[in-house]
Amino acid sequence: MKKIVTVVGARPQFIKLAVVSRVLRQQPELQEVLVHTGQHYDHNMSDVFFEEMDIPKPDYNLGISGGSHGEMTGRMLIEIEKVLVKEQPDLLLLFGDTNSTMAAALAAVKLHIPVCHVEAGNRLGTLDNPEEVNRIVTDHVSSLHLVCTPSGVEFLKQEGFSDSIHLVGDPMYDAFCYYTEQLDGSELGELLDFDGNPVVVPEEFYYMTCHRQENTDTDEKLKGIFDAMDALDAPTIYPVHPRNHARAERLCKEYGYCNLILTQPVGYQTSISLVNRSKKIVTDSGGVQREAFFARKPCVTVLDLVSWPETMKDNCNQLAKPDKADIISKLSVPVTFESDYQPFGDGHSAEKIVDHIIVFLARGG
Ligand code: UD1
Ligand code: UDP
Repeated sequence: MKKIVTVVGARPQFIKLAVVSRVLRQQPELQEVLVHTGQHYDHNMSDVFFEEMDIPKPDYNLGISGGSHGEMTGRMLIEIEKVLVKEQPDLLLLFGDTNSTMAAALAAVKLHIPVCHVEAGNRLGTLDNPEEVNRIVTDHVSSLHLVCTPSGVEFLKQEGFSDSIHLVGDPMYDAFCYYTEQLDGSELGELLDFDGNPVVVPEEFYYMTCHRQENTDTDEKLKGIFDAMDALDAPTIYPVHPRNHARAERLCKEYGYCNLILTQPVGYQTSISLVNRSKKIVTDSGGVQREAFFARKPCVTVLDLVSWPETMKDNCNQLAKPDKADIISKLSVPVTFESDYQPFGDGHSAEKIVDHIIVFLARGG
């Protein structure tokens, strides 16, 4: 029996974990020990995903959140090291690019525990982005690089990796395919405004998510995005990340936006239901820009640099500044999706991920 410790901490990681862990736990020769760092902790940022996606209760919850990047990462490093020393796993399994990911990667490599990084190779091209630092550090201490898309393979090759790279597809696409089949509209009943009142979903709407430090840490940028959304021909549904709840609420009051529907964060099925039903999507989320692509919805990503190059083909996803004119002009560009272009795999990346882990462990790491 080989032991795998999986460390997660933030919303998108719970979604990837759900699909991979489901397959992993079916393998009689593997045991998974699950660690939640506590980075995301509100019910609708954490527990809701464990409940609706049938993820087992974590074996450890470290209860670490907030503070500066260095402080959060440092506290996680200390506590994850203790868990790894106690559990002595054969492999550490990580997803994505959060502070939880990087802290766990550093703790493991110092203990000579091999690291498997799922969603390896994704690059933006600037160390000003906190997640870029996390993904570069994690990739460079990982022994197994499991990559979602061809561009990730290229980035890793440019950085000198070769035999450790495997293109497996995107577990977010697995989750999207699996759960989209189960939607029946009842999930929209979970949409609540900030006071806890149900939100009626309009016939036509734009879906927006926006939570990046780059866009939400000043009034100016978030206001630029709100100005654009408020001027559109249909309302925008915006589940607000707790990071910028207070700022979003205040801006709406100050500027009297009436075409913006702010809601509490929603569960995964509600989110992809909104993706599937929306006219178009505006986001700064790595996950939501891919989901827009999976659902064949035109997307505008409010970031300076491309994070998922495959989604940008034929303007299916376009970058915009946090600026009214720029966002509106990008939303008006006509888009057609090429029907057989699917660079995110076949919806079964989880099986491939687990296969690569088994082979890796069988040859002794
Ligand atoms: C983190 C990840 C980001 C990912 C995002 C997913 C890093 C560096 N960034 O960003 O890659 O896209 O998660 O959503 O790890 N907060 C709450 N309740 C919660 C969670 C957060 O109130 O349940 C508040 C706290 O005040 C916290 C702030 O949000 O300080 C920011 O949370 P944090 O986890 O530091 O970063 P995210 O913006 O969520
Ligand atoms: N999401 C969700 N509820 C929300 C907003 C987003 O379940 O209120 C989902 C979204 O559909 C996607 C994932 O969360 O599956 C993306 O996570 P997030 O945007 O927080 O992080 P990122 O992908 O940018 O790292």
